[in-house]
Amino acid sequence: MIRVLRWVIALCVVLALGVTIVMSSLVPRQRPPADLEVTITPELLARGTYLVDHVLLCNDCHSERDWTRYGGPPMPPLGAGRECMTRQTATIGVRVSEGQSNFPGVLCIRNITPDPGSGIGNWTDGELSRAIREGVDRDGNGLFPIMPYFIYRHISDTDMRAVIAYMRSLAPVAAERPERDIDFPMSLLIQWFPEPLEGPVAHPDPADSVATGRYLATIARCDFCHTPRRGQGKEGIAGMAFAGGVPFVLGARETPSRNLTPDATGIGPWTRQAFIDRFRLFGDRHSVATLEDNTLMDWSAYAGMTDADLGAIYDFLRSLPPITSAAAPDPAS
Ligand code: HEC
Ligand code: HEC
Repeated sequence: MIRVLRWVIALCVVLALGVTIVMSSLVPRQRPPADLEVTITPELLARGTYLVDHVLLCNDCHSERDWTRYGGPPMPPLGAGRECMTRQTATIGVRVSEGQSNFPGVLCIRNITPDPGSGIGNWTDGELSRAIREGVDRDGNGLFPIMPYFIYRHISDTDMRAVIAYMRSLAPVAAERPERDIDFPMSLLIQWFPEPLEGPVAHPDPADSVATGRYLATIARCDFCHTPRRGQGKEGIAGMAFAGGVPFVLGARETPSRNLTPDATGIGPWTRQAFIDRFRLFGDRHSVATLEDNTLMDWSAYAGMTDADLGAIYDFLRSLPPITSAAAPDPAS
């Protein structure tokens, strides 16, 4: 009798453990939203606007884009979200593939204007910070990692406040986007991706140009596009930082990102000024005849960065180990 009871108890323990493991894998790892209250000052708002327009490029995803102009500038109403990606069309602003797409479900890039119903008007500052840097929405669900929260987790606490100030300043737009509908197993995988921050995120020392450049090259996603990685992984392939060669598809044209290391096949021959000038050169929003003449790197937005910030990115890139790669940039003239 006692033996049977022991077995029953053991079985119950195993079952309870199993249920706990299954249940905990259905919700992302998360912490409660921070108790944050952003006081909006003109300086903070100016910093937030600069970051969003020229570094973070939130509206390049959260708005429709005008692909008849170079870089595909976001079109007003800014932040109101955009057409959904579906199983038939994968659009990241551009129709990258015709017919059947590989997108596992339906995903609509959301309205992040302060509209209370369809936007983020009712979210707290802590909830916004958690969504942007830790990938967990208001209801505790993991965001699809097309939202680059795993990159934005490096945004410093001061800059996070600036971005929130900017979001609160957007004109509220009532634009309801359909709920997402992601297929299994992706629906489960996206719950495993988020990682809570462990503490405060410090801002780089402004006197340290290399540290500032590393910070900007991370949050401006230069690293993400210019470092080869396996699949859509968070981590780049070891020893390949900024080696370029990542394929990007624009209409019928495939164009790789370029080698940004200080090698002869990278930006080795470029001076600091030539690097800054390259951005200014592509800075205008000239009209382009076909999608293939355009670029997925929004040069014109980045061209609005200050000389100090572009120069810091250059200083950081020069500090990297040189890597020889076939994906050389065009010679700087
Ligand atoms: C590369 C595209 C991309 C960029 C850049 C991007 N987002 Fe997103 N964002 C998304 C997608 C896609 C979602 C929806 C994810 C989902 O529903 O699972 C999203 C969701 C969000 C949400 C959650 C909204 C909700 O209702 O759940 C917020 C807040 C947000 N983004 C803010 C920002 C901010 C602020 C920036 C710039 C710092 C930014 N995003 C940059 C693609 C992007
Ligand atoms: C969305 C992906 C993406 C992002 C983000 C991105 N790049 Fe690029 N980059 C590319 C691609 C693709 C090319 C190839 C040429 C083109 O399409 O403009 C390129 C080309 C370049 C070139 C070579 C230009 C030439 O004349 O050959 C430089 C320099 C460069 N990127 C620097 C940067 C820096 C610095 C950042 C961050 C501020 C950055 N990129 C962010 C995708 C990206």
